[in-house]
Amino acid sequence: MKVIVTGSYDESCAVVAEMIKDLVVSKPNAKLGLATGGTPVPIYKKLIAMNEAGEVDFSAVHTVNLDEYCGLSGDNPQSYRYFMEKHLFSQVNLPQGSTHLPNGTAPDMEAEARRYEALVESLGYADLQLLGIGHNGHIGFNEPCESFPAAVHPVELTESTIQANSRLFDRVEDVPTRAITMGIGTILKARRILLIAGADKREIVEKALTGPITPWVPASVLQLHRDVTVITCGE
Ligand code: F6R
Repeated sequence: MKVIVTGSYDESCAVVAEMIKDLVVSKPNAKLGLATGGTPVPIYKKLIAMNEAGEVDFSAVHTVNLDEYCGLSGDNPQSYRYFMEKHLFSQVNLPQGSTHLPNGTAPDMEAEARRYEALVESLGYADLQLLGIGHNGHIGFNEPCESFPAAVHPVELTESTIQANSRLFDRVEDVPTRAITMGIGTILKARRILLIAGADKREIVEKALTGPITPWVPASVLQLHRDVTVITCGE
């Protein structure tokens, strides 16, 4: 595992955006595993600027996102599909149809989980998976639990995640209590993993990287992957 500590969060985002750009330049049909949340927004802004400047071309790229809330359709402003359209997809030359997220309104979530896992598999899994981390150590929506879930699956969100994510909703009661997420196995099949965390996540990042590997700290499983880079910052 490689750890990069930068001087500021903006610098961390610049490092990650450069890494994504370098991958797409060297492999124009790269498969990018993407995340939502506050963490990656500045990275997406930098990728948009690079795309506008003609430094990176997304026309042959496919993206696979980690997760989606259950019960929210793509045109709901709180859905992760909407988030991705707003913060990245609609602003770069990614073809419609090349961006993939689980469908949060599928009638049968178990079937949707199987469909999404099969889709990610058919794309050959991510060349690069971008990850944020929850204060409880979650990656994707793999919450602390008794065993590492392998494949895409529906999940009940923990109270701490609901509280953390309520900042983006009018009321905490509006936060969906279920989501559908790539499993730990799906994430580990990415060829390269970039975990980015701001200074506020220092404690959980340290616990995940240096503590015991346990599903009670889901990100600790990253210690088992052979190509993980963690990007954090001093401030
Ligand atoms: C989002 C996701 C989550 C977030 C995590 C951190 O797709 O998979 O694991 O990365 O909750 O969220 P922020 O970045 O908002 O602190």
